[in-house]
Amino acid sequence: MTETWTIARILTWTQQHFVKKGVESARLDAEVLLAAVLDVNRIYLYTHFDKPLTTEEREAYKASVKRRAAREPVSQILGKKEFYGVELRVTRDVLTPRPETEHLVDAVRDWVRDNAIEAPSIVDIGTGSGAIAIALAKEIPESLLVATDISVAALAIAKENIATHELTERVEILHGDLFAPLEGRDAFDVVVCNPPYIDPAIREQLDPEVKEYEPAEALFADDGGRAIIGRLCVEAPTHLRPKGLLAFEIGHDQRETALALLGDAGVWDEIKIGRDLQGHSRVVTAFLRS
Ligand SMILES: C[S@@+](CC[C@H](N)C(=O)[O-])C[C@H]1O[C@@H](n2cnc3c(N)ncnc32)[C@H](O)[C@@H]1O
Repeated sequence: MTETWTIARILTWTQQHFVKKGVESARLDAEVLLAAVLDVNRIYLYTHFDKPLTTEEREAYKASVKRRAAREPVSQILGKKEFYGVELRVTRDVLTPRPETEHLVDAVRDWVRDNAIEAPSIVDIGTGSGAIAIALAKEIPESLLVATDISVAALAIAKENIATHELTERVEILHGDLFAPLEGRDAFDVVVCNPPYIDPAIREQLDPEVKEYEPAEALFADDGGRAIIGRLCVEAPTHLRPKGLLAFEIGHDQRETALALLGDAGVWDEIKIGRDLQGHSRVVTAFLRS
């Protein structure tokens, strides 16, 4: 007699399969993907362990399991990711927004609040899915944003997310290389950016989820990962008002690099580097000297 594929049995099998394939959070991913196929929350799985799956449910789950076993990120299989309490559509064309980037949103929001800036103008350079721009637009209701990216494909996803969250009136999208699309525009109160900052030389050390499924232009920067950060430090001043805020993310080992690049530019005051929840240096803030 063949055994029935209940929720409990299929989860156990999938977890073991994922472990063999090197998936880090094997059990969690098995549950998240099954919950999505069944259109239920994860608690439901635990309260219905003995429920048999229909053939259609099994086939749909098998397709998701196959993709995850090939190390495709869960976010891309589901086509969505939550960032700062906001659900965003994600595809292979955009970086999946990371929890540590939420600190960048916090830093900008706190600065706007602490300085009582009414209706701040903010540019999010390299917006990807639109994560930072959308989170800031929701957090700071009077703000006006511009979101730029060099990737046309990424901007198509950003545009969709901005429309889904009914922010089209407040978040403008521009295509181009760093500050090039902003030529001739008024200076901003804030320049925020989560730049590509990984050294291409360490590509092979990255997880398959990253190196095989996320866009290279979202990950890597020349000059050992420093190129875009260096350009931000030099090019942002032209587009910031005096005492305006520059806020950007760095890799966990780039603290000294960021300090040196900001120092070399010679126009930044009150440079601070905040840590993420893992204790890694992550969020750089500086004010443009007046
Ligand atoms: C690390 S991802 C950040 C995406 C998103 N802001 C986030 O935090 O999830 C970097 C983004 O910068 C874009 N990018 C890379 N080089 C760029 C450049 N020279 N000018 C503008 N955007 C660039 C990439 O296409 C990518 O969307």
